[in-house]
Amino acid sequence: MSTKLWNRMVVFILTVIFALLCISRVGLAQETWGGEPLLPIPENPAEGFQLFYEKGCMECHSIGGYGGTAAQDMTKAVTEQSFYGISQMIWNHVPKMSEKYEEEHIKWPPITSEEMAILMPFLSYLNFFDKPGDPEEGERVLFREKCVNCHRVGKVGIVKVKPLDEFKRYKSPVFFVTRFWNSGKAVNKTLQTEGIDLFEFEENDLMDLIAYIKRSGFGEAGGESIYLPPPNPKSGQRLFLKKGCINCHPREGKPREAFEGVAVGPFSHIVRRMLNHTMWTDPDHPDMPLTPEEMSDLVSYIYFLSYAARPGNPEKGRHLFVEKKCADCHGADVGGGTLVPEFGPASNLKTPLDVLSGMWNTAPEKMKKEMLEAGVPWPQFEEREMADLFAYILSARIE
Ligand code: HEC
Ligand code: HEC
Ligand code: HEC
Ligand code: HEC
Repeated sequence: MSTKLWNRMVVFILTVIFALLCISRVGLAQETWGGEPLLPIPENPAEGFQLFYEKGCMECHSIGGYGGTAAQDMTKAVTEQSFYGISQMIWNHVPKMSEKYEEEHIKWPPITSEEMAILMPFLSYLNFFDKPGDPEEGERVLFREKCVNCHRVGKVGIVKVKPLDEFKRYKSPVFFVTRFWNSGKAVNKTLQTEGIDLFEFEENDLMDLIAYIKRSGFGEAGGESIYLPPPNPKSGQRLFLKKGCINCHPREGKPREAFEGVAVGPFSHIVRRMLNHTMWTDPDHPDMPLTPEEMSDLVSYIYFLSYAARPGNPEKGRHLFVEKKCADCHGADVGGGTLVPEFGPASNLKTPLDVLSGMWNTAPEKMKKEMLEAGVPWPQFEEREMADLFAYILSARIE
């Protein structure tokens, strides 16, 4: 190879590496909101399962039927997705939960903020799993959306294109929705020639469809089942750039804003919006094929954007701090009591994880006892209120 060609190649390779570095810097830098870093998108939300076990949570709570029975199964109990939503669930239930700890003679376990960083994504992740659908409803969807005009499933429909029976054998809904998504362009072209409207899937439609295929599709019942590794939202974040989703979904460079309030789980509820996608009717837009792993990573990324929710409003939080009687004990700054110092200069609460860990560790022994004595009822919060409260506590700190 000539030196000139060699030099050119080296320059080319360096440029590519540089460009890649820039992309990852722009896309994957820690997102901030009003100068505050947001909670990071997790790499492996399943990791917290071990901690959930080690901290003794399974003495009372089960996961998918396995574990203690003194409290609800966590897969049913967790109905929130965002960090603040789950914080609120934990906080609101402290009185009853700590009573149970006393009853069962179990020691309230301390949880550090580093541990909260692992435990919280796991609790949120429990809400990512779909509940099984209803086959009767699924049959209605097959007719309503006219799937039966082109596909056969079991005894219904006509075989214009592939029958859908094959999907009977998969355990996870990911395979069905990925193959559906990958056919996007072809489906939409045939829809247009047949004069059928674009799909409009509602909340449980996809799981209902799958339930119908599983019940009534031809093929071996309970046949081959294929599992996927747990999703990696962080890798989904990279795919969002690599696959070009970002080209249409930035809204001021922030996917968060495009999906806020929309990307509410479980998995199939987010995917149904992707399958309603009008982009396929755009003749210039090519298919965007994904593997099942990529689909599950991408959707989990969109889901965890809502986990790492935007912080609240410190001004509102300050009002709540007084209204909900936190100020009775904390902080002279808001004209309250001085039993414990306000979260001021000496505070080492720097992130929402620190605040949550601080609240968890002191809730039953210190706060609950004091509140009982003072006759203050345990204050209850909603998701956004929790965010506002945390924002206030963090804003009270001085760097
Ligand atoms: C000694 C039994 C016990 C242990 C151990 C326990 N919990 Fe609970 N937990 C309860 C009870 C009882 C409730 C329901 C309280 C209520 O109804 O107000 C509850 C409720 C909850 C809720 C709210 C669920 C809902 O229905 O809204 C969350 C979240 C939670 N626990 C998380 C945890 C975590 C995380 C751990 C481990 C660090 C843990 N729990 C350990 C007894 C326990
Ligand atoms: C107007 C015709 C038409 C309608 C209506 C239609 N599809 Fe399809 N579907 C297609 C075409 C064309 C393909 C691509 C087939 C291929 O690639 O060979 C396809 C592919 C699929 C695939 C992927 C199949 C595979 O084996 O990879 C799934 C899943 C699917 N459709 C589900 C549905 C569902 C669910 C409905 C109803 C909500 C529906 N389709 C309605 C025409 C249609
Ligand atoms: C060509 C532009 C374009 C590309 C590329 C694109 N989208 Fe979209 N997407 C849209 C538009 C426009 C909407 C608004 C709703 C619609 O089209 O039905 C949307 C809606 C969505 C929604 C639902 C949001 C809502 O408000 O209901 C999700 C989720 C989504 N897209 C995910 C993705 C993912 C993941 C990718 C990459 C694999 C992607 N999109 C690529 C244009 C695009
Ligand atoms: C009845 C008195 C009382 C009330 C009311 C009260 N707290 Fe506390 N709080 C305490 C005590 C006592 C501690 C433990 C302080 C210590 O360990 O130094 C504490 C600790 C904390 C911590 C941990 C601080 C740290 O540095 O780790 C946080 C966060 C907190 N409280 C938030 C709140 C919030 C939010 C409210 C209102 C919903 C509230 N507190 C209501 C008495 C109270």
